[in-house]
Amino acid sequence: NARSAVALVALGGVLLAGCSSSDDTSPDGTAADGSVATISEGMLTVCTNPPFEPFELEQDGEIVGLDMSLVGEVAADLDLELAPLATGFDGIESGAALNANQCDVVASGITITDERAANMDFSEAYFDADQGLLVTEGSDLSDVASLEGKKIAVQIATTGATWAEENGLEGVVFDDLGAQVQALQTGQVDAVVNDIAVLSPFITDGLEVAANFSTGEQYGFGVKKGNTALLTAIDDTLERLHSDGTYDELYTEWIGTAPAEG
Ligand code: ARG
Repeated sequence: NARSAVALVALGGVLLAGCSSSDDTSPDGTAADGSVATISEGMLTVCTNPPFEPFELEQDGEIVGLDMSLVGEVAADLDLELAPLATGFDGIESGAALNANQCDVVASGITITDERAANMDFSEAYFDADQGLLVTEGSDLSDVASLEGKKIAVQIATTGATWAEENGLEGVVFDDLGAQVQALQTGQVDAVVNDIAVLSPFITDGLEVAANFSTGEQYGFGVKKGNTALLTAIDDTLERLHSDGTYDELYTEWIGTAPAEG
């Protein structure tokens, strides 16, 4: 009957539209109309792994933080709505989340490494990082030598886990920073190793940061390999944020101090 014929035509239209938009996206991520193509229309979907304050944390059911503010600026420049998605860090750092089209961007305090750069394309660096050691107050653990034979909580697939391994330390692997800290508080491990900037939020909980291991890391945002349309947009936004002062403002808001010169 006429009604179902109309419904069928409408359905066909939807299916066609769905097909043509992805077919019209060129391999470099440019849509037919010249805009940057994304996996969900009108949205910039971003994989991230909270809790990782001040870069990504859940607040009133929303994921916020320096990473989200920065990619939020990218989304705004592209006229897209920011859609953060909490996912496992292993899938984020391996490129699996990007390759499975789970998200357009990975923004998760990710250290740029050669191995990772083989599996995704990185933006310009936006933050300098080192590893740090979190212990219970009054502990005598403070350097690599003192950590020998101790149980050290590390986060899965992170540079902190690699650091512990390279230093011959026993890393106990946890899914996220929250689980690492909980293990320290319950006496399951003797110390936590993760990026130094995310340890300071715990200083007030009977815990203290006992060492800074200078690894000279730099964070970058990642996109699927070959997605130069989105990568260029991210770098353009980062450049704007540095020149118009927004980067310094957001950095100060989330980190609590102004960024170092240079
Ligand atoms: N910077 C470290 C790395 O790349 C740790 C990042 C963990 N990020 C997170 N949101 N949990 O391995």
